Amino acid sequence: MDASNVNFEGQSVFIAGAANGIGAAAARLIAERGGKVFIMDIAEEALSKLQKELSLPDDQVSLIDLGSQESVEETLRTFISRSGRVDALINSAGIVGPNSTKVENIPWVDFERAVRINLFGAIWLTQAVLPIMKEQKYGRIAHVASIAGKEGNPGMAPYNVAKSGLIGFIKGVGKEVAPDGIVINALAPAVIRTELNANTSEEMLKYMISRIPMGRQGEVEEVAEMLAFMASKACSFTTGFTFDASGGRATY
Ligand SMILES: NC(=O)c1ccc[n+]([C@@H]2O[C@H](COP(=O)([O-])OP(=O)(O)OC[C@H]3O[C@@H](n4cnc5c(N)ncnc54)[C@H](O)[C@@H]3O)[C@@H](O)[C@H]2O)c1
Repeated sequence: MDASNVNFEGQSVFIAGAANGIGAAAARLIAERGGKVFIMDIAEEALSKLQKELSLPDDQVSLIDLGSQESVEETLRTFISRSGRVDALINSAGIVGPNSTKVENIPWVDFERAVRINLFGAIWLTQAVLPIMKEQKYGRIAHVASIAGKEGNPGMAPYNVAKSGLIGFIKGVGKEVAPDGIVINALAPAVIRTELNANTSEEMLKYMISRIPMGRQGEVEEVAEMLAFMASKACSFTTGFTFDASGGRATY
């Protein structure tokens, strides 16, 4: 393998959900490997902290709300006009939404919000970058899904729906864009040590870790390595696929 295939010199990489957790780890790693990262998130304070850490100019940083189609379209339009090209899009934005709640007890407004941010947001991001990637005849898209989308976690219906929807979405789009030099994949982590789980109940966390043969949570750096591969030239013959990062929980 040519080492330049995993390097991001001369590449523009857009990262949604970059302010915290897995997205921030991916932004650090890709910047370290020479990529020009464009970071976006709804969390203003954490986003500007990362901007300072990576010494990014203001035009590579933007607030975005993945729950709003308008916000996604506007932000991506602005970033694309500034960057001139998009080599890769990484989407790590997400919320858990209702958990430890039986499906019939979930208020619809909460159900819809989790699906909107986790699934519709991912679709809008993809729609925004495909035209320029098609012009370039090159692109890499990596969405962070979840083991919940493969297996379903009890008490987390909206999250399961969104993440399995995302896995289905990339399967079909992968086939659509395969002739255009674009690959689109997802990643399905099990429990990773991040703030995302801050509001997940003890009971639910225990259940999820108990199902991981390695007996521990994953670390953000482990997930970032996989995303960096999926966003790189090296990921050249895999599309529409959901990679695993589950410590052995899933073997498919
Ligand atoms: N941590 C885990 O155990 C785990 C497991 C499986 C999948 N995931 C997925 O990994 C991804 C990253 O999660 P994380 O663990 O790093 O969590 P995190 O909370 O640390 O990061 C998620 C980021 O998404 C941002 N975000 C939330 N709502 C947004 C919105 N409406 N618009 C824009 N940005 C928004 C947050 O501000 C945050 O920076 C998510 O898609 C999550 O579902 C996480």
